[in-house]
Amino acid sequence: MRQNISDAEAEAKGLIASADSLEKLREIEPALFGKKAALGQLKRGLGGLEPDERREMGQALNAARQQIQQLLGDKRSTLETAARRVQLEAERLDLTEANAGRAWGHQHLISQTTQRLEDVFVGMGFEVAEGPEVEDDWHNFGSLNFPDDHPARAMQDTLYVDLNEPESTMLRTHTSPVQVRTMLNQKPPIYIVAPGRVYRRDTADATHFPVFHQIEGLVVDKGITMADLAGVLDEFTRAYFGHDIESRLRPSFFPFTEPSAEYDITDPNQRTGWLELGGCGMVHPNVLANCGIDPEVYTGFAFGFGIDRLAMMRHEVDDLREMYTNDLRFLSQF
Ligand code: PHE
Repeated sequence: MRQNISDAEAEAKGLIASADSLEKLREIEPALFGKKAALGQLKRGLGGLEPDERREMGQALNAARQQIQQLLGDKRSTLETAARRVQLEAERLDLTEANAGRAWGHQHLISQTTQRLEDVFVGMGFEVAEGPEVEDDWHNFGSLNFPDDHPARAMQDTLYVDLNEPESTMLRTHTSPVQVRTMLNQKPPIYIVAPGRVYRRDTADATHFPVFHQIEGLVVDKGITMADLAGVLDEFTRAYFGHDIESRLRPSFFPFTEPSAEYDITDPNQRTGWLELGGCGMVHPNVLANCGIDPEVYTGFAFGFGIDRLAMMRHEVDDLREMYTNDLRFLSQF
């Protein structure tokens, strides 16, 4: 009997080893465990044995059965893994052609420049703020101390939106309304920069476009002076442009700052000249008061730079319109 068991076991092992597909494995299963299988028949023969021998042979049969079950399971999972691999290989998509000769996209020069500017100011302790591009007259002009008859409100500068009262809703002409929105929403100390799109009714030429970008800065705290403004702009100039570029402040006028200045840097492409980057100044007390901040307690400074011009200078772009025509030959240079 023992001999018969090991013969049956060897035969079963041989069957399992020779099965080279899941289908074959399924086919041989009855021959291993079915009614007519050798092990099954031997089991039925146990009845005719003496009790001691019956127990011994019973155990041997069980052990053989377990061993075969184990082998069968192992074989099945090996075959399943192989079948899955074959299927994956068959369904694989070849994307090399779709990708061939196509360059990866990247951020637009203006976005790259904006991000670098943000990085420099964030490094100096500023937070980044945002505001809407469609504004009302109060946020864009009134709260910023523009008199009602100020020429900047006139039709030739401002792009109005046909909504509500005539000339009451507009595309923001500068990022300065974000100053107002920030002061209305948060108490000093305030240290923010706000980059974004602005709009003016300009005819496109090499240095003008009806949409362009500014980055606004605003600091409101106790004891802020013009020296802090000069220090921040100096620090910014060095951090952003390096030590070769010089900056200067030149007296100017804005309704929302007093005193006001123009911030220029030396133009590296034209060694003799100065490049006007934007305006700045001490926040006008009326603006602080309009935003619910006591000008007797707090003072602040603000600045607003044109981003497009700065990018043009850094990368020697001589026509602003290039930035907006989406010509890949231009864009892929940066
Ligand atoms: N908003 C001004 C402009 O668009 C620039 C500016 C911002 C000036 C902040 C002073 C302070 O020209």
